[in-house]
Amino acid sequence: MNIVTCIAPVNIAVIKYWGKRDEKLILPLNDSISTTLCTEQMHAKTTIMASSEFTEDRIWLNGREESFDNPRLKSCLEGMRRLAQEQGGSGEGSNTWHIHVCSRNNFPTAAGLASSAAGYACLAYTLKELYSVKGDITAIARQGSGSACRSLHGGFVRWHKGSAADGTDSVAKQIAPSSHWPELRILILVVTNQKKLTSSTFGMQRSVETSELLKYRVSHCVPDRVEAMVEAIKNKDFETFAEITMKDSNQFHAIGLDTYPPAVYMNDVSHTIARVVHRYNCVKGANKVAYTFDAGPNACLYMLESEVPAVLGLMKHIFPPRPEHVQYVRGLKTETQSISQEVLSSLGVEPQQTGLLMEMILTKLGEGPERLTDPKDHLLTEGGLPK
Ligand code: DP6
Repeated sequence: MNIVTCIAPVNIAVIKYWGKRDEKLILPLNDSISTTLCTEQMHAKTTIMASSEFTEDRIWLNGREESFDNPRLKSCLEGMRRLAQEQGGSGEGSNTWHIHVCSRNNFPTAAGLASSAAGYACLAYTLKELYSVKGDITAIARQGSGSACRSLHGGFVRWHKGSAADGTDSVAKQIAPSSHWPELRILILVVTNQKKLTSSTFGMQRSVETSELLKYRVSHCVPDRVEAMVEAIKNKDFETFAEITMKDSNQFHAIGLDTYPPAVYMNDVSHTIARVVHRYNCVKGANKVAYTFDAGPNACLYMLESEVPAVLGLMKHIFPPRPEHVQYVRGLKTETQSISQEVLSSLGVEPQQTGLLMEMILTKLGEGPERLTDPKDHLLTEGGLPK
């Protein structure tokens, strides 16, 4: 019997990955850049146990048993077993034994917050530890979900699209560690009443087939944008970082509309958030806050630590919680500053009805996956069933 437990972070792209050049190997059409979020606020946790006693591979996700008959899951497992074999061993446990996998997120999955990226990064990393595999495991995490490979590193990460047909040069690499820009803060606004939407996988496939704008983005926009973003990160230039982040999010959603039939992910609340951010920056005379939206209505706001109390005060004012809502803001502790009447009148955005946001999560940059050594952390009992 052999058991390993690891956690892995969520990552949020500031240059989006949207479109594949190889559906099977999950190879992207363009480079993407992301920030890895601190695991204290949000993470996926996975325990994998291998045992000669197990008669089949089994998996439990967020408390429910799911079928292992899932091509992405299987290709992660087979890929890692192959690597272990090539490297001449399988660690303490045999890689021919069946496994039991139990995985949980410490944040609401219903919120649609990059949970597949954290989940598959955690699966790949835990398998790597279980089989004592050495070297880069981008290719394995990528087979689960493209964006998962960026969660294998902390700080700022670039997924290089690569050009090799077999994907060997399509790898995620760190641009800078989290310690490079410790003042950066991320405020996630979780929007209530999310409708079921087109999955990223299906949406991007349809964009590749039908969107002319996607072709233009890939050939004319992303290459320069990626270089400019790397420079902005290296120079801790928030003004540029914010501008590129917002433009890239907007372009990604424009591609959604250019897709036929369209893939619409932002809703009215998302658009109001974007408007508030632009007005706030305009009043302040500089980019103090940046938004980005993934394949859903939630907003991810970037700002420096010094701006957090004012932005939190602003967002609470525009999006008031329901009176019974006790814990509206989770995560890092911070002050809330009330917004002056002067700023509010220049903003020209009225407070909205209560309850449009489910919650706000304040976090910062963080590290890549980590193995937990305390047996108390295991999600499986000694018999291999969820605790
Ligand atoms: C909008 O990684 O979920 O979040 O590779 O098909 O699993 P698959 O897609 P996925 O796509 C993420 C898309 C995005 C942008 C990003 O994270 O770069």
